[in-house]
Amino acid sequence: MKVIYPGSFDPITIGHLDIIKRLNDMFDEVIIAILINEAKHSLFSIKERKQLIEKDIEEYKLENVKVKTFEGLLVDFAKKENSKIIVRGIRAIADYEYEMNIAQFNTNLYPGLETIFLLSDPKFSFISSSGVRELASFGGDVSKFVSKNVKKAIYEKNNLGGKNNGKY
Ligand code: PNS
Repeated sequence: MKVIYPGSFDPITIGHLDIIKRLNDMFDEVIIAILINEAKHSLFSIKERKQLIEKDIEEYKLENVKVKTFEGLLVDFAKKENSKIIVRGIRAIADYEYEMNIAQFNTNLYPGLETIFLLSDPKFSFISSSGVRELASFGGDVSKFVSKNVKKAIYEKNNLGGKNNGKY
């Protein structure tokens, strides 16, 4: 069975990675689908985000996982991929309310499409890409929230030479 795990992944966090590891153990094929959204200001380009995810997948030996990008509607990507299963992680009630609405839109647009929700591990339920971006922009330590690979890239982006001025 093939599932799609869509998102912005700007950047991928250990919360995302935990979901991806669990999906890798459950399904034959997991497609991580990065949304190309020119309108949204992002820290990492699509190419960089894809490379960062691919490095993490390789490091964690997640053999059933592939990374792709998509533009436009998720349902059109799902049709192209021949999959009727979308997966989203839920960290809190606020996520659920938002996700329920999107899931219902998607099933309405593509009858038969199912959205599966995985509850995030409580240890990761407060972690978000936006939180990581903000923390890094002020020179905070992101080690506990992203992989080593992403940590290096985020400090490079913030002109900290791959580390936080030697602090971490
Ligand atoms: O990581 P994010 O930003 O929470 O991911 C949101 C994403 C990419 C899953 C969602 O915005 C999406 O699917 N966008 C594509 C457009 C679409 O199909 N929207 C739903 C129909 S209203």
